[in-house]
Amino acid sequence: MKNFADIGVIGLGVMGKNLALNIVDNGYKVAAFDLDAEKVSAAEQQALNEVPAREQMLQGHDSMQGLLQSLSKPRLLLLSVPAGKPVDGVCQALIEAGIEADDIVIDTGNSLWTDTIAREQHYRGQFVFFSSAVSGGEVGARFGPSLMPSGDRAAWDHIAPIWQAIAAKVDSHSGQPLERSQPGEINTAGEPCTTYIGPAGSGHYVKMVHNGIEYADMQLICEAYQILHQGLGLAENEIAAVFERWNQGELNSYLMEISAEVLRQHDPLTGKPLVSMILDKAGQKGTGLWTAVSSLQMGCPAPTIAEAVYARAMSTQKGLRMQLSGQLAGPEIQVDDVTRSELIDGLEAALYCAKVSAYAQGFQLMAMTAKEQGWQLDFAAIARIWRAGCIIRAGFLQTITDAYHAAPALDNLLQDKHFADALSQQQPKWRKVVAVAVLNGISVPCISSALAYYDGFRTKVLPANLLQGQRDFFGAHTFERTDKPTGEKYHLNWSLPQRSLIKVG
Ligand code: 6PG
Repeated sequence: MKNFADIGVIGLGVMGKNLALNIVDNGYKVAAFDLDAEKVSAAEQQALNEVPAREQMLQGHDSMQGLLQSLSKPRLLLLSVPAGKPVDGVCQALIEAGIEADDIVIDTGNSLWTDTIAREQHYRGQFVFFSSAVSGGEVGARFGPSLMPSGDRAAWDHIAPIWQAIAAKVDSHSGQPLERSQPGEINTAGEPCTTYIGPAGSGHYVKMVHNGIEYADMQLICEAYQILHQGLGLAENEIAAVFERWNQGELNSYLMEISAEVLRQHDPLTGKPLVSMILDKAGQKGTGLWTAVSSLQMGCPAPTIAEAVYARAMSTQKGLRMQLSGQLAGPEIQVDDVTRSELIDGLEAALYCAKVSAYAQGFQLMAMTAKEQGWQLDFAAIARIWRAGCIIRAGFLQTITDAYHAAPALDNLLQDKHFADALSQQQPKWRKVVAVAVLNGISVPCISSALAYYDGFRTKVLPANLLQGQRDFFGAHTFERTDKPTGEKYHLNWSLPQRSLIKVG
């Protein structure tokens, strides 16, 4: 048994404890700390109960000093505490406990990427502030998450062996996840779902966009459920069967799989489908919102991600919705038999197209921000590490990997031939679904905004010409002309009786 632990884990909530147990499974010795002593002993006990041979592989400490003294140098400290002030609180406590300049603190929470950049600078000289966003929820943390590390490149060399060991694995030939689900199991085969993302902040940015896409993906599935339930009157178990069928095809994904499972679940209290007893008010912790805000700041259209955030916000206005549902008129739902059968088939296509559109939005946003920040992001690698372990894992991510592998500098996924052909071929069904939903008064903000995004990109002349005319009319904001070089600015003297054109720059 080694004397020193390989890594310290601070924060033994579900994610921290499961990451610690995952690290132990892979043969690394963990020193653990939490302000709540009960969580420390529970983690120690769980490690022993799961695999008795693990004695002393996870050792708790009741102080930061004790934790630091137990670690080999340079020390690796994995932080699993809520984003925001708690991260700085722990960093301060580590400074007071004697952390050293070479030691590496790895923030695994969903921190705001700009906070991460600021922290990396702020703590420089006191310790190395590194980050590694984690996706996959509690099961992922326990048996293989997708990990998005970023920060000091030399620090990554110390972290990489542990990260590659604990990450989810994908079969390198088939691209399929290699699942593990038992304590003590390890998986040395396959490609690990982790890669060095880039400088400080980039990993958290990529994780933020992952979550923005996650919001869109979830809402798209929810809108399909709404059309099938509210529009076609299908029961929960019938919709689950439709989702299970779709999950065998191009829509195969973890989110589709769990949606079917949620729909099949009965409420232990009433015996009714559980989903019918769950209040329709969605929560959120902020990462989807940050993605939407970033897209607005970058001037990069990501309407489906933003609409997914708005859909959650709309859901929380339950009182007003209840009131207005009796006040605002809408159509009676009328779907004839032909439309009905077309719709189920069409919905699969619509969902696929909308999903491609949402991913295209997320990937372009990452590309534009990377350019602005001077990050060299490898999009094929990012798609590759999302194939397993994370919440948006899906067979579909192999196709995105292939697209960026073939053309690393792709501006937008819609330029990829495979996706362009697929959407071109399936768009009539997508339109039909949106049209039927709109005509029947079913709110589908994500499926329809994804289509508007697609149509926006296939439109040679947008009405922004009129918009520029309006801006110039009331604010002399100038416009460029179609027949003059880009950058030349013109203004029309709208208020003068003799309107004349002036070249202003
Ligand atoms: C993941 C998840 C994870 C978390 C979200 C939930 O990748 O493992 O995205 O990070 O479940 O933060 O976010 P909301 O509470 O905002 O839905």
